[in-house]
Amino acid sequence: MKDVDPLVIREIEFLGGLAQAGGWRPSTELPEIAFSGRSNVGKSSLLNKLVKRKALARVSQTPGKTRELNFFKVNGEFVLVDLPGYGYARVSKEARLTWRPLIEGYLKHSEQLRGVVQLIDSRHEPSPEDKQMVDFLAEVGVPTVVALTKTDKLKKSEVTPRAAETARALGLDDAQVIPFSAVTGLGRDELAEALVELVRAPSWRATAQE
Ligand code: GTP
Ligand code: MG
Repeated sequence: MKDVDPLVIREIEFLGGLAQAGGWRPSTELPEIAFSGRSNVGKSSLLNKLVKRKALARVSQTPGKTRELNFFKVNGEFVLVDLPGYGYARVSKEARLTWRPLIEGYLKHSEQLRGVVQLIDSRHEPSPEDKQMVDFLAEVGVPTVVALTKTDKLKKSEVTPRAAETARALGLDDAQVIPFSAVTGLGRDELAEALVELVRAPSWRATAQE
């Protein structure tokens, strides 16, 4: 028998996109959870699996297409923020220069941000950019969990050791790394549970200032 779903999705509303630093953002005061990762890591697929919708976030044929932060309100309770993927070689230097202030500005200054889900491709070592991002998140102080994506591409016996290696490479605890697959659904409920915990936790910014 299946356990109770830790995150039953009743309603999802797309609120809009933030395209440049300091630009429009939704005016809600709901807690926000952001999803970060290299382009093509499987972010849109993970989001769709998480909320059990086929096409909430568009799974791309053209990597690196999403250039905005997209905000989705869930159950009227919290907001998922889809960050643009980094590290796609064909994206122009100019685009990469606008990307940094956009993402970093959001992560540093969003009052509602309660946590980040950092995606890492299970088939590869974390890239230098992955490490930079995880270091940046630690510097900001935002609670972070890692979703290890595309684990259906590994042998079953490889998944746990790979998760441990990834944690070590990123300087995180094993418990912070959740093996995931959008194909088999592995890790969906565990990730949903982690997300619900992040949403419910008091704001780390308030705690940091005490
Ligand atoms: P961008 O938005 O372009 O940066 O990519 P993304 O990170 O949103 O990745 P997306 O979900 O669009 O997936 C990229 C490719 O990986 C697609 O071809 C997906 O079908 C594939 N993919 C995503 N998740 C999985 C997974 O869990 N297993 C397997 N086998 N393939 C996956
Ligand atoms: Mg995407």
